Amino acid sequence: MPTPTPPARLGLGLAAVGRPAYLTLGRDVDLPGDRSPAALQARTHELLDAATALGIEYVDTARSYGRAEEFLGSWLRTAEPVPFVASKWGYRYVGGWRQDVDVHEVKDHGEAAYESQLAESTALLGPWLRLYQVHSLTADSPLWEDRPLQHRMARLRAEGIELGFSTSGPAQAEAVRRGLALTVDGAPLFTSVQSTWNLLEPSAGAALAEAAAAGARVVVKEGVANGRLTDRGTPADSALAGAARERGVGVDALALAGALAQPWCTVVLSGAVTVAQLESNAAARDLVAGAGREWAAEEWVRPEDPAAYWSARSRLGWG
Ligand SMILES: NC(=O)c1ccc[n+]([C@@H]2O[C@H](COP(=O)([O-])OP(=O)(O)OC[C@H]3O[C@@H](n4cnc5c(N)ncnc54)[C@H](OP(=O)(O)O)[C@@H]3O)[C@@H](O)[C@H]2O)c1
Repeated sequence: MPTPTPPARLGLGLAAVGRPAYLTLGRDVDLPGDRSPAALQARTHELLDAATALGIEYVDTARSYGRAEEFLGSWLRTAEPVPFVASKWGYRYVGGWRQDVDVHEVKDHGEAAYESQLAESTALLGPWLRLYQVHSLTADSPLWEDRPLQHRMARLRAEGIELGFSTSGPAQAEAVRRGLALTVDGAPLFTSVQSTWNLLEPSAGAALAEAAAAGARVVVKEGVANGRLTDRGTPADSALAGAARERGVGVDALALAGALAQPWCTVVLSGAVTVAQLESNAAARDLVAGAGREWAAEEWVRPEDPAAYWSARSRLGWG
């Protein structure tokens, strides 16, 4: 009798609350007007407390999310229970805590970046850091050929920290397969992958199923397409909005349920910036619990061409 795969669970991602600017749609409405570090730390702690109350025990952050690791670290000191904490290296925050700059983050997958960011992450997240991921391991990353760095990273495993990577762009599937094939001393370098999967962009699904079959943790990000798969981002007369209304939930819950229902999925990240959004997102669990894995949200929305999806995403303004 094969061991049943445990149901996928929700996690909380801090990309939208750790810094004053990000690319999601309704920030001017949902975030406090005061985007000072103190105001965003308070909002982050409020969300983490609400996540704990909702039984969410997985938190995702990154060096490039402004001061998100610092905000999470200060909350973890008194957290009970302590969630599973994952972070990322590979992008550096350069926004200077401003909203009106053109560049907010710079990519660097070199060894010096790894060393300095690992030191910064462990200084802020110390004993709680469980998983360290390469941020957006795309085809152009020098990491693929950098064996000395791969060996350096593998040493982190010996210290009990898992290694993973995230993917982005229309060629995610290729990066998922290539990343999980990387080995150091005969063992897979990565045991966790984080990829964008949602009802508009499900193209990485098959590769993620292979990842799960190989025993990797599969984390879904951008489950509501940065706000496009929410009541605010979806036409009220659409089939998807109608299906959500019929079930008494928001479009966000239906979209996230579509991800939670994927048999290969381990964690689906909520990117909520308000407690009300997080509670609405969490309704996805009840939908899946009710419908099991025979969930076909796809019938309500047609997937987009991946290249078109990612080009639309790259045009989203940061604010
Ligand atoms: N390359 C990478 O590794 C990478 C890239 C992206 C994300 N991630 C991870 O994935 C997490 C989630 O991704 P994401 O935040 O970019 O995308 P997302 O989850 O698709 O979008 C979240 C955004 O949707 C809006 N929203 C959510 N629920 C809503 C509701 N009920 N009603 C109205 N609006 C709602 C909110 O934005 P507004 O309120 O501003 O509209 C929220 O910030 C991140 O926090 C991060 O941990 C990783």
